Amino acid sequence: MDNTIYKNRRNNLKELLPNNSVLLIPGADLQYRNADSAFPFRQDSSFYYLSGFCEPSSLIAIVNNKDGIKSIIFVPPKDKLKEIWDGHRSGPVGAVDDFLFDKAYDNLQIDKILPDILHGHEEVLYPIGKKKGFDQQVIDWTTAAGSKDRHSKSINIIDATSLIGNMRLIKDEHEISLIRKACDISAEAHIEAMKSVKDGDNEQQIESMYIHEFSKRGARFPAYNPIIAGGENACVLHYVENNQNLKSSDLLLVDAGCEYQMYAADITRTFPVSGKFSEEQLQIYKIVLDAMNAAIDSVKEGNNIMQPQEISEKVITEGLVNIGLLKGDPEELHKSGAYKDFYMHKIGHWLGLDVHDAGDYTEGDEFMTFKPGMITTIEPGIYISSKMDVDDKWKGIGVRIEDDILVTKDGNENLTKKVPSDPNEIESLMS
Ligand code: GLY
Ligand code: MN
Ligand code: MN
Repeated sequence: MDNTIYKNRRNNLKELLPNNSVLLIPGADLQYRNADSAFPFRQDSSFYYLSGFCEPSSLIAIVNNKDGIKSIIFVPPKDKLKEIWDGHRSGPVGAVDDFLFDKAYDNLQIDKILPDILHGHEEVLYPIGKKKGFDQQVIDWTTAAGSKDRHSKSINIIDATSLIGNMRLIKDEHEISLIRKACDISAEAHIEAMKSVKDGDNEQQIESMYIHEFSKRGARFPAYNPIIAGGENACVLHYVENNQNLKSSDLLLVDAGCEYQMYAADITRTFPVSGKFSEEQLQIYKIVLDAMNAAIDSVKEGNNIMQPQEISEKVITEGLVNIGLLKGDPEELHKSGAYKDFYMHKIGHWLGLDVHDAGDYTEGDEFMTFKPGMITTIEPGIYISSKMDVDDKWKGIGVRIEDDILVTKDGNENLTKKVPSDPNEIESLMS
């Protein structure tokens, strides 16, 4: 196991941290389902990004001062009995030898040792408000550090959310290769689903198929709860009940991506249960696909990150006017936001260790511009629930198409293009 990559990321913080400061990044705790039955442990993403270390209730402290940059970790102590029940622990020795920290302590010592580490520094940075109970702990440690010498300068507490988030925003080669793998696995699962879905299947069966296809390719967990939405269920944006039977006249919207070695993929495809789009379904589908293609074309270094959003709004507005679902001048309708009755969510989000990944969307008062190494989803949609005041023929049609787009030096790369989005290709795959 080579953990140099994580050590290098910690060392790179030398350029980003203020002088004479300490950065604290708390790891995740084990979450219990009931009694002593725990959910599978998932490390906090920023903690993992800087350590590669996957044991619960750990803490990283990165100290930046005139002596250089030093990384310290607090980890669960070695414990013969606990290790019999729950498995191997690295302990402080393993944290130094295998995870390349400069110093490691057992986490039962945090309250005693951390105030000494903070003492004499001017700033403590940590992600404020992200972990329950942690804000109070930082205040307590900082107060204890300050009270060691009442004549020393007080310690300022600063939010590190943007600092770490924006580091994570630009993906390195190692990350891109893992996300590429997560995307490939997820795309293959979508292809398998398109080939096998049939009238009368239950949404839950389709869900289990995705989990199986992910798992057999090395991705044990989905990156988020899959949305397996037949017919009108597609109009519930976060539908996760996944328990209805599919009808041959339905479209099936599946938003499902796996997590591979901690990295997420996020793909949506919408396809006809019968294998053949109806005329109305196809009309709506083509508008979404046009919006998708135009939006992806605008993901380029230097372009404003809101450009795909605006383009997708315009294409969808125009398309809805062309088929009579909106009436009036497309430009005016776009300005008034009339499309929001049909397309009510944003075009996408950053993707990485988390499906809705860390990283800002603005720089100062402006939206950011795209830079190589960023990965964004592009996911336009049109949703027409039966409650809407439209001709019956449109009711119950919900379409979203979602791909994962890497910004490159020469434009972009669609990491999930392997799974067809062209309606003819979908129909031929399903035939
Ligand atoms: N799968 C979550 C999303 O598309 O944002
Ligand atoms: Mn998404
Ligand atoms: Mn999604």
